[in-house]
Amino acid sequence: MLSGKHILLGITGGIAAYKSVTLLRLLVKRGAEVQVVITPSGKEFITPVTLSALSGKPVICDFFTANTGEWHSHVDLGLWADAMVIAPATACTIAKMAHGVADNMLVTSYLSAKAPVFIAPAMDLDMMAHPSTTRNLELLRSYGNHIIEPAAGELASHLVGKGRMEEPERIVEILDDFFSAGHSLKGKKVLITAGPTYERIDPVRFIGNFSTGKMGYAIADAAARMGADVTVVSGPVSVTPKETGVKVIRVESAKEMCGECLTLFPESDIAIMSAAVADYAPADPRQSKIKRESQEPPVLHLVKNPDIAATLGARKRPGQILVGFALETDNEAENARKKLLSKNLDMIVLNSLRDADAGFGTDTNKITLITASGQTAGFPLKPKSEVAEDIMKAVCRL
Ligand code: CTP
Repeated sequence: MLSGKHILLGITGGIAAYKSVTLLRLLVKRGAEVQVVITPSGKEFITPVTLSALSGKPVICDFFTANTGEWHSHVDLGLWADAMVIAPATACTIAKMAHGVADNMLVTSYLSAKAPVFIAPAMDLDMMAHPSTTRNLELLRSYGNHIIEPAAGELASHLVGKGRMEEPERIVEILDDFFSAGHSLKGKKVLITAGPTYERIDPVRFIGNFSTGKMGYAIADAAARMGADVTVVSGPVSVTPKETGVKVIRVESAKEMCGECLTLFPESDIAIMSAAVADYAPADPRQSKIKRESQEPPVLHLVKNPDIAATLGARKRPGQILVGFALETDNEAENARKKLLSKNLDMIVLNSLRDADAGFGTDTNKITLITASGQTAGFPLKPKSEVAEDIMKAVCRL
C-alpha cells in the first residue's frame, strides 16, 4: 500500500533520530517516495548526508538555500505529501505544532499539510508525563492528527518509563494499515446521521436529548480522511466537520431526518446511524406558545417517530452497509444484539452509559463492535477521533 506514496518525513532533535534512518530505509524499501524535512537541532543528531543518500533527495531544513537563494516552498511540500510523519517528535516540536509556532520548515510544512499527519513522540518520561505535553498531544489529536503512542522502556537517560519512540517497523505497519483502509473508501458514498432531534411542543419548547453530535462528526471526518464522499444529516448541534468536503444537511425533527435519509440512502454505499433520534414526538405541536396562567399543567400526548435505522434496514440492497449505535444502561450486549437483528444492521456500535467518560458530550468513548456475523471486539477508552477511526476501519473490513 505504500508503493508510490509521497511521505514527508519530519525529523526533530532527539536521540531517537537514529531510528529515523531505519524508518526511512523501510519506507523506501516499500516503494514510498520520501522527502525528509529536518529541524536545525535534528541535524545535531543525524546528518543530512545520510538521509539524502537514503531518500535520494536533498534534505530540507532551511527556508532558503544560502548559496543559490532558492526558496523551499512549505506549501508545495504540504500539497505533495500523501502523509506526513514526524518521528521522532520532541516535546518542543509537539508544542510548536499544537500552537502554530512556525519558526522552521518542519512546522511550516505541518501547517500547510493537507494530508494525514502521524506523530511519533520521543522524550524522557517526565517530559512525556508533564501536563503541558499531555495537553499539546490532546490538541494535536483534536486537529485529527494520529499520535503513535511511545512505548515504555529504558530511555536515553537510563531512566525507565514511557517515552521511547515506537519502533520503525511498527510505524510502517501503521501507515500501511492507514493506506489500506483509505483506499477502500475512495469513491464510496457515506451517509451519517448525527446529533439529537428536537420535537416541537410549541414554538419555544421541544423534546430533545443531550447528544452533542461529537461522535457522528468524528466519524464523518474519519470517513472523509479515508477518501469517502460524506454527507451528514445532522440534528441541531454546534460542532462542525473538521475535514473540508464533508456535506452537512441540517434538520430538526426525526421526521425531517428520516425524509433526508430516505432520499440519500439509495445512492449510499454505507450508512451510519449515530444520531440520538427522539423516539416520540408531541402529537399536536401548538402553533402559539403555551401560556402558564391560563390553564392546569398541560398533558403531552406523544406519537411514535419513525425508526430511521429500521426503515433503511428494510430497504437495504445487497452490498449496502448499515451501521447503528446502541447506547445502553443495562443488559448492554443482549440489547445491542436485539437491535442489530431487528433493524437489519450489519454492525452495531455499543456504548454503555455505565462506563465513565463515555457517552453524550464527552471527548472520549469506549465501544464494543458487534457484527451481524457474530464477531465482537471491545476497545479501551479513547478520544472520539480515534474511536471514529476504529469504527471506520471495521466498516472497511465489512
Ligand atoms: N434510531 C433511529 N431512529 C429512531 C431511533 C433510533 O434511526 N427513531 C437508531 C439510532 O440512530 C441508533 C439505533 O437506532 O443507531 C439504536 O438507537 P437507540 O436509541 O439505542 O435504540 P432504540 O431503537 O430507540 O431503542 P431504546 O431507546 O428502547 O433503547
